[in-house]
Amino acid sequence: MLCRYLYRSITLIKPNDPELTNIYALARSRNADFNITGCLHLEDGVFYQWIEGPSQDLDMIMNLILADKKHSNLEILSSGPSLNRRFGGWSMAAPVSGKEALFEFLATNRISKYQRKLFLDGILTYMVKYT
Ligand SMILES: Cc1cc2nc3c(=O)[nH]c(=O)nc-3n(C[C@H](O)[C@H](O)[C@H](O)COP(=O)(O)O)c2cc1C
Repeated sequence: MLCRYLYRSITLIKPNDPELTNIYALARSRNADFNITGCLHLEDGVFYQWIEGPSQDLDMIMNLILADKKHSNLEILSSGPSLNRRFGGWSMAAPVSGKEALFEFLATNRISKYQRKLFLDGILTYMVKYT
């Protein structure tokens, strides 16, 4: 069954840190082996990741991510079965947002974090828009 997670976590890794390049490289290579796709965005010390794939392999990868000391306070924002992939073809996309940060995008679209569904949809829309 195809499932997905959207989570956020706290990190000390900066956007220009080589550690971030390593995370994408490792994620892309392992995800490709397990038919996992998704998108990873870093902003202001917060990771946002959408990750999708066959439930068993997805849970295996999620357990690796959960145990990873490179971030903390991981909070799953949404999870469950999916009808379709949102990032098919991307073993782990990195949004190229130019000058628009996720929080500017949400503010421009008048989305507050208290409007839970709109907020979660907004994160995904931003990821899709800039991938
Ligand atoms: C924010 C973040 C996202 C990650 N995403 C993935 C991922 O999508 N796929 C993956 O295999 N590893 C991902 N990783 C890496 C894993 O957490 C873990 O470090 C790695 O799988 C361990 O591999 P190793 O035991 O072979 O060193 C991510 C790590 C971080 C910090």
